[in-house]
Formats: sequence, structure tokens, C-alpha cells
Amino acid sequence: MKPVGPIPAAFAKQQGELTIGGIAVSELAAQIGQTPFFAYDLDLATAQVERFRAAMPDEVHLHFAVKANPHPTVIKHLMKLTDGLDMASGGELERVRDCGANLAHVSFAGPGKRDQEIELAISLGATLNLESENEAARALAIGERLGVTPRLAVRVNPDFELKGSGMSMGGGAKPFGVDQERVPELAKILIAGGADWRGFHIYSGSQSLDPDAIAESQRASIALAADLAHAIGEAPKSVNLGGGFGIPYTANDKPLDVESVGKSLSHSLSERDAILKDTQFMIELGRWLIGEAGVYVAQILDRKLSKGELFLVTDGGMHHHLAASGNFGMVMKRNYPVAIASKMGAEAVESATIVGPLCTPLDRLAADIAVPRAKIGDYVAVFASGAYGLSASPVNFLSHPIASEIVVKGGKITI
Ligand SMILES: Cc1ncc(COP(=O)(O)O)c(C=O)c1O
Repeated sequence: MKPVGPIPAAFAKQQGELTIGGIAVSELAAQIGQTPFFAYDLDLATAQVERFRAAMPDEVHLHFAVKANPHPTVIKHLMKLTDGLDMASGGELERVRDCGANLAHVSFAGPGKRDQEIELAISLGATLNLESENEAARALAIGERLGVTPRLAVRVNPDFELKGSGMSMGGGAKPFGVDQERVPELAKILIAGGADWRGFHIYSGSQSLDPDAIAESQRASIALAADLAHAIGEAPKSVNLGGGFGIPYTANDKPLDVESVGKSLSHSLSERDAILKDTQFMIELGRWLIGEAGVYVAQILDRKLSKGELFLVTDGGMHHHLAASGNFGMVMKRNYPVAIASKMGAEAVESATIVGPLCTPLDRLAADIAVPRAKIGDYVAVFASGAYGLSASPVNFLSHPIASEIVVKGGKITI
């Protein structure tokens, strides 16, 4: 038998039928009129923001990386609680504009921006985190054509990476950002070109559970920002220190000690070079803010045996939740936190592999796990599903119905 990942604290102690934000999954399914669905409990996201604020130095701003969960209600909720939003495309920019976000606090990073996306960002007053010299030249030209001073920062490809991160985004040849040694020259061109030069975006990796590694990458980012500022001869208005705060997904993952990260960051900021004294620092987080607030719920359609192995076949799978199936950035396939949602806390009596309806062996939500006896019609919950769930999945694959998404807040379903 294989272990499952740790069920987030808000759900771990529940008995009987799982509730999300106080509402039973069968009630949620009835209200939505279908399974599978993703449910996001916004009160849990609020609690994460509060924890961040308590742990981090007051001067550090918090941005929400919309790519983690672009549901409009999630965006509207988190944009009120955080200091800004991070975009990865023109499509996300349109979404946050439509949600009424303050676009002066929105930044847009991502290699390969189209002219239309650059134009949209500049005309809305969002900050472009430039990923190359070519992109910088296009942004300056588009700003001039529009008669708008573009807000431009340089995304730096640092020589270091966030150690132990699930996805490293620095420390070598990367499609992201401009190699650190070329940044001063580019920043000088932006300043001379009349841009509103904002500063640096230094994103060295994602999904780290190691507070010391995050603290070290933040310390190194602050030191790098100071060196670059000296080389440019001008202080950056802002330095985005990236993010990388991970959440536990699989059996040996331990929650990140955010308080320890906060203490180290206070220390690094207190020791920073004087050139950065008026610089605004920010951290951009996606999964840590919303990941554990989301649950994916599917219903069991079949119970079948093959060569003595039990398969619970559900109506949900990798087409809605690629990450839980182990096919989104996981090298060794390990089980997410998964439970029979109709029977939380019940004694495990059998072992089962939980699969989806797709005709591919990749479509597996959990392999060989201990479960209470589950029958057709029971619900299966996949926890830690609030980030990189539906929007990071191949929803058109095999033309099954798309999962619904529902948001719960204050014990009520909210729109
Ligand atoms: C530039 C940038 N910002 C923010 C994020 C969000 O990361 P996470 O959801 O792990 O916090 C990512 C993830 O890849 C990223 O590339």
C-alpha cells in the first residue's frame, strides 16, 4: 500500500461526510447539479493572508499570482486582501481588469509576450516585467506609439536558484528573464528611453518547503538588487523577491515554516545596502495562498476488481486535475492527499486505486491506498487542489464534461 499526502488541517479531523466551508459535499453537489467540482473555501485563503502578514516584515508587500487560480471570485477576494496581482498573460490581465483590480499594482511576467499583450499592459498602466532586450525595445516603441509612459521592470535571471524547489527558475540558462550581468545595461536603456523604470523581478523557483533555502534566495536577491542598482546608478522603486512558498502535497512533505522565513527576511532587510532604503519589496505567491483552500470532488461510478486489485472508477480525473494524477511537474508519481469524502475518519478496510473515466493509464487520482469500504455513488475528495487544478489541466482531452468550480465563504456559496 502507498501513503497519501497530508490532508490540510482544516479537513484532516473531520468525521463522516466531508464539509467544505461548513457545507457537506453532497449538498454542494446538489446545488451545483453535477460532479466533479472544485470547491474553494475563501475563509482559508483569508487565514493564509493573515498568517503571511503576521509572519513577514510589515514593509513587505504581498502579491497574488493569478496563474495559480484565475477563478474571478478568487481573484476578487484575494485582490482585496493583498497589495497587488501578478499576471502571466494578456488573458489574465483582461480577467483582473474585469474584476476591477487596481492596475497600478498589477505586474505581468512571462517569456514571449505578444505586441497586443504589451499594448494592453501599457495602456492599462500595469508593470511589465521584461524578459529580454527585444521585449524591452518593443515595449518602449509601443509606449511611444500610444503616448503612454510604460511602467517597466526587468526580470532578472539570477545566477542562483531556489534550492530544493519543485521548479527551479534561475541559476543557469533559462527562458525567463535577462541574465543578471546584462541587466544594468538594459535598465539604463529603459531609463534613457523615458520609461517609468520600476526595478527588478527576481523569481528563482516555486514549491519549496525549505525555509532556509527560501531565506537564502531572498537574501541573495536583495544583495543582487543592490549590486545592480549601483551598476545602474539609480535605486529601484521596487524589488519583487519572487515567491516559492510551497505546500505539502505528498506523504513526506512538511508544511513550510513561514514564521522562520519572515524572521530571516527581516534580518536581510535590516542589513540591506543603503541604495535600497526606499525600495518597496514584494513577494508573489500563488499556491501557498489558495492551494490548501481547494478540494476536488468526484463521484464513484464503478467498483471493479482486476486480478485481485480493486479499482474505484470516478467521474473525475486527469482531464480536470492533471497535477493530482502526477503528470504536472512530478518526477516520481506520489499520491496527493485523497480520501473517501463520504466517510471521513472511517477505518480503512481495503486497498484501492482510484482512477478516472479516461481510457489511459495516466488517468489515476491515487494508487494503491488504504480506504474504508466505498460504494458506487460515494464521493472522493482530492485535497490541496486550490492551485494549478482545472486551469492547469487538459480539459478537452476525450471530451468529457468540464468540472464546475464553486466558491464558499462564511458558510455560504458565493458568486
Ligand atoms: C513568475 C512567477 N510568479 C509566481 C508564480 C507562482 O508560483 P506559486 O504558485 O508556486 O507560488 C510562478 C510559478 O511558476 C512564477 O513563475
